[in-house]
Amino acid sequence: MAEAGFAALWASLLPLGRDAATGGYRRFSWTPADAECRRWFTGRAAERGLAVTADRNGNLWAWLGTPAAGAVVTGSHLDSVPDGGAYDGPLGVVTAFAAIDLLRERGLAPVRPLAVAAFSEEEGSRFGVACLGSRLLAGAIEPERARGLRDAAGTTLAEAMAAAGRDPAAIGPDEALLAGIGAYVELHIEQGRALAGLGAAVGVASGIWPHGRWRLTFTGRPDHAGTTRLADRRDPMLPCATAVLAAREAAARHESVATVGKVIVTPGAVNAISSSVTAWLDARAPDEARLHAMVDEVAAAAGAAAAGHGVSLAASQESFTPAVEFDAGLRGRLAASLAARGIAAPVLPTGAGHDAGVLAAKVPAGMLFVRNPTGVSHSPAEHADAADCAAGVAALAAVLEDLACR
Ligand code: GLV
Ligand code: MN
Ligand code: MN
Repeated sequence: MAEAGFAALWASLLPLGRDAATGGYRRFSWTPADAECRRWFTGRAAERGLAVTADRNGNLWAWLGTPAAGAVVTGSHLDSVPDGGAYDGPLGVVTAFAAIDLLRERGLAPVRPLAVAAFSEEEGSRFGVACLGSRLLAGAIEPERARGLRDAAGTTLAEAMAAAGRDPAAIGPDEALLAGIGAYVELHIEQGRALAGLGAAVGVASGIWPHGRWRLTFTGRPDHAGTTRLADRRDPMLPCATAVLAAREAAARHESVATVGKVIVTPGAVNAISSSVTAWLDARAPDEARLHAMVDEVAAAAGAAAAGHGVSLAASQESFTPAVEFDAGLRGRLAASLAARGIAAPVLPTGAGHDAGVLAAKVPAGMLFVRNPTGVSHSPAEHADAADCAAGVAALAAVLEDLACR
């Protein structure tokens, strides 16, 4: 029954924002695909008698009961990375609705307010800052800075929100909303293969590696690719290449990870030396000392290479999330409620960022993971088996029963 209910919900969301050519999702905040996902959320909530509100930052909340102190919140996000998979984010939202259905099938009713949340721009795919909606809610980014963030076309967040009918002047921390949250539990597909290796369908998160994004802009001198002598060039691509390799080497040295997944080359002509190259460094480490050491080493290598090629370098941090250790009391509750239902759930850390990690600074927060047999994520190939999704629904229902129904 739970499996069939999940499958129907899942199938209704699956076509939205999917690119026919790649099979990946392009659900970027405040775009038509995002609006479709929001309509889907509102419709599924209405079918269940949940009252939907958007907070001042555009995050959606579907309430069962009146918002009040001690509320239990679950959910995740509906936006995606460019050509992302179906599960990263949506699994937590669909599972939340399915878990509420399962509780009702069992005749259980919450004694505390219960909400399903869908946070805006978790991936930072359009405006560059990860977990933008939860960061704004938690006061982890200045509203003025957020309003001025620009997408690739130069549109600001303020303009995009206004075009979607939201008031950008209202964005910012919402202490009253946060004060009412007794616990936030986010279910997410695992973005690694730990559960597969352990033979477990679900797990509990211990914490999140500190991580961040840095923008490196190399500015050189545009010139002719056929006639400019090598000695005369000021080619920004060369120090950028050094930075990419330095990131890989520093990551290996620090037993961490670092990635350059996005580069913009201007003007982007085959037969011209570029005027500028902008690269984004995504770096994550088991602790902040290693993270900062790794980023400093990449910046030093990039700076030295830039100087050697007569290129200037401007480096800036675009977002940063410190190490997160999830609330020990809530983790214990999650483990106990799963154990009571006979669900074996290993405890594991992750290098992936989540709204739960941002909210953890303000409210007791925790996470459940669902097995990902290949570990692949941020890719159209991301997958979880239907039986494991059903196990996720059962696990979340067990947790919500304990937290909200007793
Ligand atoms: C989000 O998935 C991130 O870890 O960047
Ligand atoms: Mn993601
Ligand atoms: Mn996610």
